[in-house]
Amino acid sequence: MSGFRLIVSIVFALVTVSHCHKWPPKTKVLHIGGIFPINGTEGWQGGMACQPSAMMALDDVNSRFDLLPGYKLKLHWNDSECEPGLGALVMYDLLYKPPQKLMLLAGCSTVCTTVAEAAKMWNLVVLSYGASSPALSNRQRFPTLFRTHPSATVHNPTRVKILQNFGWSRIAILQQAEEVFISTVEDLETRCRESGIEIVTRQSFLNDPSESVRNLRRQDARIIVGLFYVVAARRVLCEMYKQGLYGSSYVWFFIGWYEDNWYEANLSQEKIECTREQMKEAAEGHLTTEALNWNQDNQKTISGMTVEDYRKRLNNELLKNGHDVNIRFPDGYQEAPLAYDAVWAVALALNRTMHRLAERGRSLDDFTYNDAISAGEIYSAMNATQFLGVSGTVAFSSKGDRIAWTLIEQMINGQYNKVGYYDTQTDNLTWLAEARWINGKIPQDRTIIIDKLRTVSFGLFVTMSLVSSVGIAAAIGLIIFNVVYREQKLIELSQPACNNVMLVGIVLLLSSVILLGMDGDTVPVVHFPVVCQLRAWLLCLGFTLAFGAMFSKVWRVHRKMKEKKSRTQSAKAKVDWVLVGLSCIDVIILTIWAIVDPQMRMVENFQLENPTDTEKDIKIRPSMEHCESKHQNIWLGVVYGYKGLLLIFGLFLAYETRSMKVRSINDSRYVGMSIYNVVVLCLITAPVSLVISSQADASFAFVTAALAFCCFISMALIFLPKVVEVVRNPDRPGDGDDETDQTVSKEEEERYRKLQQENEQLQQLIASREHKLKLLNQRLLERNASANVNGVTANPAVVSPSNNASTNVSTPVMSGPARTTTIHLPPAKKNR
Ligand SMILES: *[C@@H]1O[C@H](CO)[C@@H](O)[C@H](O)[C@H]1NC(C)=O
Ligand SMILES: *[C@@H]1O[C@H](CO)[C@@H](O)[C@H](O)[C@H]1NC(C)=O
Ligand SMILES: *[C@@H]1O[C@H](CO)[C@@H](O)[C@H](O)[C@H]1NC(C)=O
Ligand SMILES: *[C@@H]1O[C@H](CO)[C@@H](O)[C@H](O)[C@H]1NC(C)=O
Ligand SMILES: *[C@@H]1O[C@H](CO)[C@@H](O)[C@H](O)[C@H]1NC(C)=O
Ligand SMILES: *[C@@H]1O[C@H](CO)[C@@H](O)[C@H](O)[C@H]1NC(C)=O
Repeated sequence: MSGFRLIVSIVFALVTVSHCHKWPPKTKVLHIGGIFPINGTEGWQGGMACQPSAMMALDDVNSRFDLLPGYKLKLHWNDSECEPGLGALVMYDLLYKPPQKLMLLAGCSTVCTTVAEAAKMWNLVVLSYGASSPALSNRQRFPTLFRTHPSATVHNPTRVKILQNFGWSRIAILQQAEEVFISTVEDLETRCRESGIEIVTRQSFLNDPSESVRNLRRQDARIIVGLFYVVAARRVLCEMYKQGLYGSSYVWFFIGWYEDNWYEANLSQEKIECTREQMKEAAEGHLTTEALNWNQDNQKTISGMTVEDYRKRLNNELLKNGHDVNIRFPDGYQEAPLAYDAVWAVALALNRTMHRLAERGRSLDDFTYNDAISAGEIYSAMNATQFLGVSGTVAFSSKGDRIAWTLIEQMINGQYNKVGYYDTQTDNLTWLAEARWINGKIPQDRTIIIDKLRTVSFGLFVTMSLVSSVGIAAAIGLIIFNVVYREQKLIELSQPACNNVMLVGIVLLLSSVILLGMDGDTVPVVHFPVVCQLRAWLLCLGFTLAFGAMFSKVWRVHRKMKEKKSRTQSAKAKVDWVLVGLSCIDVIILTIWAIVDPQMRMVENFQLENPTDTEKDIKIRPSMEHCESKHQNIWLGVVYGYKGLLLIFGLFLAYETRSMKVRSINDSRYVGMSIYNVVVLCLITAPVSLVISSQADASFAFVTAALAFCCFISMALIFLPKVVEVVRNPDRPGDGDDETDQTVSKEEEERYRKLQQENEQLQQLIASREHKLKLLNQRLLERNASANVNGVTANPAVVSPSNNASTNVSTPVMSGPARTTTIHLPPAKKNR
């Protein structure tokens, strides 16, 4: 066994010697500077692990003969404590103290900012092994900075990829108000905009996230990217629990560099009012993204080590420096491979520069802080870096950022499970395992809103249509009745033409009932404006014809009354100018309305409702169709105002002529009653229909019922008596009276009654006088009888006047008021 070892070592020595022959011995030294945060109290003291790691890399580099032949690399370093001021001091110390440095290594974002911004003045390339601030990606400010540490924005392409992968296009962002997170969010917003992902809200907080989390809830955020340090993360987690912003409907993205059990820290110490169980429940299912600092497979890297070899060596090195990784990982342990690879990147870049400069007859030995040409070469060489290091493939983007893989993890049962990797460079998302969701289904990025049109229920529509059809049939029947019995005095004297116009109006109104019930269910959207127009025309014209006909009748009665009072006779109008005028106004208004501002289909949306079958993430948005113009109120005002005036005026006329009777308009009282009825119904319907306009069924039922009721009552009032009369006496052509048109007023009737009373009194008087006369006659006869004996004859004039008087008075008593012309009362009057 020992013999075999000896042979191996001899062979190894020979190989080494042969190399020595091939490569010149490393006699000259190249100097680089290093700034490590180690002994500070605030911020990232990653130098604890990174500095030993860098020294390890230096040893490895210097033992390679094919790297920087003839040269040794030497690192001059000091502690910055992650303080920018101290960092600057260290940098100046390094620069002004000989020897000449070729490059600088730096860690900790704040120190890097200072160093990288200044270093360009000395034509120095700065390589950072530990700075994640996205602000450092600014090539104008930091033209010579490269990073082996990925920028914090490296998560963003991964996040966007995951969002796209699950079909989420609506996210919210919750961030701690820290510079790193602010610039990360800005980058994320840009990427989301490019990918068409909507950011509903961006909430930021300083210490207390409760208000921000509440806002997230208010905005119905479902997919939330959270950016905060671990202490704030615990507070957010507790707040999530309190506000119920976790579980099957929510997905949270956290930063992956918290420790595995970060949510179980000493909660009472941090004044977090949640229990561990609650924290664990709220954390369940969240996703994290994390840049990979360690190569993932165990293949040999450029140094000849695998990652496992490296880890062992590093742990040994750290132990020498007083850090036992079995007790506690020193700060920067996760980033140690980045420091190792940073030194390798420096060495490889210088190796390349050396040969490029040699081609130009120059050497790295000649480098000074004023040597822009060599600096440019070093920059190009660094820019072209590509090798497999212990942190994975090392390469830099055009902004000098490390191109790295990201790891996606998900918390399942309180443990982080690796879900997948994402390689930004090749846009390669590799799933290791299915992401698991609490309900087994991918959460939605929003509440799904289902639009539901509130329509008139079919049964109601059919019912009302049937009712109105019956009404239409009745109205048509009555028109026929009017035509058939036009010879009858009763019909002839009821202005049948006017009544027919009214019936046509009723037909129009009742047809509009059917149109009012037509909505999204029955009419396609494109045809809806036509329905709107038809509704307006039918309703307006129907009302004007029906009510206008009644109005015209009472108007005429009223005019007759006026004429009688003023004793002037005017020619009877042949054309009903009132009706024509009213209709013309209607047609003009409707035409202008239809041309200037046509009614369109408008959809009114109501408050969201929960569905009856409780599928959790669905809401119903009820909506209703309306016919509406741009200036709907103006048009309605014009139409309603005009109709309202007509109603009021009609009411007034109906009241004025309530007791008038005109022979040629024998149904004027019924018309008056009909007008009252219409006015009352309109007064009730208009406001009530406004109140219930949001309920399709109720509104439709109420309006159409009122309309139908109005039409039926009017028809019944005006035509039922006529029909009954005609049915009773079907063959009577008329009642033979051909008296001139005349109005009978109340005063006249009163006068008749008085005259009648007088007549009666006079009759009684006559009767008593007659009785007296009889007695006197009798006595006279008796006297004559006794006188006859004495030779006197009877007087014939005694009996006759009593006969005359009785016939003369009895006739007028029997006659009704309609026959007043035949009354002869001169004797009674003369008696007075
Ligand atoms: C850091 O502090 C320790 C003791 O506190 C000291 O031994 C060590 O030299 C310091 N390191 C640096 C780099 O200053
Ligand atoms: C260093 O440069 C030389 C010359 O270009 C090249 O042959 C050698 O492979 C380089 N070393 C490494 C480790 O790439
Ligand atoms: C840097 O290191 C040297 C010795 O290692 C020490 O004397 C000096 O105080 C350190 N600090 C600065 C700022 O140079
Ligand atoms: C948490 O912190 C409080 C106060 O510092 C301490 O009293 C308590 O023992 C700690 N609990 C645990 C489990 O560390
Ligand atoms: C840096 O490298 C990229 C390709 O990786 C190249 O397009 C760019 O020109 C290089 N920049 C410089 C200054 O060499
Ligand atoms: C993506 O990466 C995986 C390794 O993680 C590899 O197996 C696969 O071939 C890659 N796919 C593409 C398209 O590069």
